[in-house]
Amino acid sequence: MMNRRQALRSFSAFVAGSPLWSQDYDNDPMAPINLHEFEEVAKRKLHKLAYDFIAGGTEEEYTLRANREAFGRWYLIPRFMRDVTNVDTSATILGAKVPFPFFIAPTGGKNLVLPNADETVAQAALNTKTVLCSATGVGKILEEGKPLVWWSNTIGSPNKASAVGYAKRIEDQGGKAIVLTIDNAYQSNRDRNNRNRFDYGYMQTGAPKPGDKIPPPRNPARAAMWQPHTPSLTWEWLDWARSGSQIPIVVKGVLHPGDARMAIERGASAISVSNHGGRQLDGAIGSLDALPEVAEAVGGRIPVFMDGGIRRGQDIVKAIALGASGVLLGRAPLWGLGAYGQKGVERVLELLGMEFKLAMALCGVRNVKDIDRSMIRRI
Ligand SMILES: Cc1cc2nc3c(=O)[nH]c(=O)nc-3n(C[C@H](O)[C@H](O)[C@H](O)COP(=O)(O)O)c2cc1C
Repeated sequence: MMNRRQALRSFSAFVAGSPLWSQDYDNDPMAPINLHEFEEVAKRKLHKLAYDFIAGGTEEEYTLRANREAFGRWYLIPRFMRDVTNVDTSATILGAKVPFPFFIAPTGGKNLVLPNADETVAQAALNTKTVLCSATGVGKILEEGKPLVWWSNTIGSPNKASAVGYAKRIEDQGGKAIVLTIDNAYQSNRDRNNRNRFDYGYMQTGAPKPGDKIPPPRNPARAAMWQPHTPSLTWEWLDWARSGSQIPIVVKGVLHPGDARMAIERGASAISVSNHGGRQLDGAIGSLDALPEVAEAVGGRIPVFMDGGIRRGQDIVKAIALGASGVLLGRAPLWGLGAYGQKGVERVLELLGMEFKLAMALCGVRNVKDIDRSMIRRI
């Protein structure tokens, strides 16, 4: 049996040549070896209410679990004898050539992890050539001249003038896509936040440190629970935004094939199959389980992304085999951030990339475009 250090050494031999993989990682016996261990380190460093805010879902957390459990029901059927000495993991995501078919999902409240977290994650995205989608309300992050491919997230406001203005502004600022989140009509019911008397003010000011005494909340989660976000939003928003700008619109939060067809009809350039990481409607279908029907409805007309529960390289192979062109990472980069700051985010992206490369090789595929439906079965 190989010990952990030997395993890491042989893993890094496999990825030798990757500019992302550095020797000091192999030499640190305590370095997390997978994304779950990054979460454990982050959990130790964060205040419970910050950890729970990020890790948690809504109510019974059925959907949060469904996202992960779905990966355990789909199994890969590898092919062999195909010379996988060289494996090319690169992909093109809405025109951006990237080393791996994943990008950073919009996540609000990064300040709960570290001050200046948006800049820190953006720098890590730039260093690893990963596309970054900034969260709602967070604009352009890095200054002019840094070639970060940046997308902007919005929950949309049901008003033509603001939709047009928003789309224009993002295009002028150099955003390469707008990501419209459609599953956010109301603030959802999150038991962990309610139990912790989580204060939404922390999303601006940052969370207390472990052991700090917590003042009584001014804006407690339970009171915010029914807060309307975008209850009157309709597909018209896409018409408005498209009249203000030429940049692609990605519709995030599609679970029903009918919504996929509507998004295409209203001019979306891509969709993401997503249930908001189990943070909106509890009881909603797991993202991977929703993907095949949605991909079938889209029929290759526009790229289909997915997010929810990606923690391993093999998960990305499964998502692509079921029709995704790429996946979004929500909590994973936040665990890297909470564990080791910018370096931690970079490590998480590297680790996932290298696991993905290995999973491709062991499946007998040399290029991302060769991953197909014949490689996967639901058990
Ligand atoms: C702390 C946190 C904040 C989030 N904020 C947003 C947001 O502002 N807009 C959005 O569309 N999705 C948001 N999401 C959902 C993610 O974009 C993504 O859909 C989800 O996290 C994917 O699941 P995963 O965390 O298992 O990768 C958030 C998720 C988390 C964990």
